[in-house]
Amino acid sequence: MSCFPCAGGDASAKKSSKIKRNDNSHNDQSNTKAADTIKVERCNEVKKENAQNVIQTSVSGEFVEKNNSPEEGIPMNKARTFTYAQLVSATGNFKGAYFLGEGGFGKVYKGKLEDSDQVSENQSLCGCILEIVAIKQLDPDGLQGIREFVVEVLTLGMANHPNLVKLIGYCAEGEQRLLVYEYMPLGSLEDHLHGFRINSKRLDWNTRMKIAAGAARGLEYLHDKMNPPVIYRDLKGSNILLGEDYHAKLSDFGLAKVGPLGDNTHVSTRVMGTYGYCAPDYAMTGQLTFKSDIYSFGVVLLELITGRKAIDNTRPAAEQNLVAWARPLFKDRRKFWQMADPVLEGEYPVRGLYQALAISAMCVQEQPNMRPLIGDVVTALNYLASQKFDPLTSKRSSRGQRSIHEKKPDM
Ligand SMILES: Nc1ncnc2c1ncn2[C@@H]1O[C@H](COP(=O)(O)OP(=O)(O)OP(=O)(O)O)[C@@H](O)[C@H]1O
Ligand SMILES: [Mg+2]
Repeated sequence: MSCFPCAGGDASAKKSSKIKRNDNSHNDQSNTKAADTIKVERCNEVKKENAQNVIQTSVSGEFVEKNNSPEEGIPMNKARTFTYAQLVSATGNFKGAYFLGEGGFGKVYKGKLEDSDQVSENQSLCGCILEIVAIKQLDPDGLQGIREFVVEVLTLGMANHPNLVKLIGYCAEGEQRLLVYEYMPLGSLEDHLHGFRINSKRLDWNTRMKIAAGAARGLEYLHDKMNPPVIYRDLKGSNILLGEDYHAKLSDFGLAKVGPLGDNTHVSTRVMGTYGYCAPDYAMTGQLTFKSDIYSFGVVLLELITGRKAIDNTRPAAEQNLVAWARPLFKDRRKFWQMADPVLEGEYPVRGLYQALAISAMCVQEQPNMRPLIGDVVTALNYLASQKFDPLTSKRSSRGQRSIHEKKPDM
């Protein structure tokens, strides 16, 4: 991590924590610039193009052409189109009370769609069916642009997995660009872990492992099940959204990239992502691999275990970068307990903590080829999530930990 900048990552300065670097896809050899040249820039290359046309062109040029098994059929983009007026009405003209949050793309609002085809348990007084959604409106002065909008519609519109947020549709009318998603009632993992959510209860160990396993399954779908496979490129706490019972779903696919095909090991591209989560090898060379996502996943898992932020400028210098802080501790089992989130108050299984730390340590290794494949991460985390910890039947150890008394999995 020494060559990787530790700036940004502060939630209050969200927009500046995104990193982007000039496109170097045509010059592989020049990709060895120091990572500290990474800077924030606006990405509006295709802003003037008609988004609808771009979506259609890209669908045929990227996803369909590379789908070399015609017998499986051409993947269908299931995203619906909405008029701007429909979305104005759904959000009460983007009323402050409906505001959910803001990221690099723009503001996010809760919305209620009337007369939807989808059956919902939410029924308005007039008897119309209401579908609760989250609506993300592109900020024309923001960090992201039409490219991210198009990639989001393409990737999510084609995807279908219980651990990916569902894209219901989009609006590309005049200058307006909006995305409509299923509403995730418990907000983002970042909100829960780092206290941006009012009245949220402390995440217990079992819930943390459940979230980690769910997020890993979403990533596995992108890497191993989608055709062509997709590198996510923006895995972080704020992009893991939570549904009822803390069911985790990955969101935000604006930076997603079709993975290397054939004998290629990487995709050369501009460096984009978020400080603290971006793999150092990718940050330095611009060579994007599936292992770049594995690194980001390892950072998220470490955040879940420690309760610390990937980058925290309020801590002493040696502790500001989570991975840099954790690396020496990973080497000494006797120090593992120091890494458990103090908020857990010792309520975690010691063996489970060791195993979770081992998975995280493997994922954040400097050498990308030493990091595990997502399938192996899923297997390990599914197992860990199935080992339910019951604080009532465990005893507190001398270090404020509890000994291992794990309940049988409820399967
Ligand atoms: N589908 C959704 N359901 C409920 N809340 C959502 C949904 N999508 C986004 N949000 C809320 O809006 C906030 C902002 O999300 P957004 O993805 O725009 O930005 P971000 O992830 O914080 O930052 P970045 O632009 O760097 O990805 C989230 O933290 C979350 O609280
Ligand atoms: Mg996001």
